[in-house]
Amino acid sequence: MLVAPSILSADFGNLADDVKAICNGGCDLVHVDVMDGHFVPNLTIGPVVVSSVAKVATKPLDIHLMVENNSFFVDLFAPFKPEYISFHIEEEKHPHRLIQKIRSLGIKPAIVLNPHTTPEAIEFLLADLDMVLLMSVNPGFGGQKFIPSVIEKAKRLKRLIQIHNPKCLIEVDGGVNNKNISSLKEAGVDIVVAGSYVFNHSSGYKSAILSLK
Ligand code: DX5
Ligand code: ZN
Repeated sequence: MLVAPSILSADFGNLADDVKAICNGGCDLVHVDVMDGHFVPNLTIGPVVVSSVAKVATKPLDIHLMVENNSFFVDLFAPFKPEYISFHIEEEKHPHRLIQKIRSLGIKPAIVLNPHTTPEAIEFLLADLDMVLLMSVNPGFGGQKFIPSVIEKAKRLKRLIQIHNPKCLIEVDGGVNNKNISSLKEAGVDIVVAGSYVFNHSSGYKSAILSLK
């Protein structure tokens, strides 16, 4: 299982140290939650902060857009050369076009599904994607409770992926911990995002990441 700690739960007063610590602690990706206060009822970070994160991160960035006007935000964050940029299907009129744009910038495109969105909604986009991110909470905040129906959704998505694009990865985001991780693995999930579990772990980031792996 690949682990992508969400820096939303980091100490923003010591963000550089926290980013270095998760990278040294064995994470696979650094998950960056970008919220605009419109698509979701929270406001997080923009390019000024992400630029500082990119300078100290020794693992690739995984940028999760929770915004209106995705294309504008893709342009803002592309200069930091993230591994992935993911956008919500619920907020995009031309997802196929945006996927091509992200790829043309040398970034792997990913689509995010909110808890109510079915995997079939993106069936005919799967061939063009590197990853699908399934929300296991409603987007907007860290520290929420895991929504168990994502397990069934991951299994359904896995079947579609096997038909259309077996290389496409499945990532799950929200409420992930050491109790639900094995059912996610069994369902075919490749990457988990974990915010509060990693950053609030009593034995430190490294052992939190290791316990998920
Ligand atoms: C929620 C974010 C998540 C969140 C995960 O909108 O996309 O990445 O930070 O935090 P936890 O793991 O605490 O649910
Ligand atoms: Zn996220």
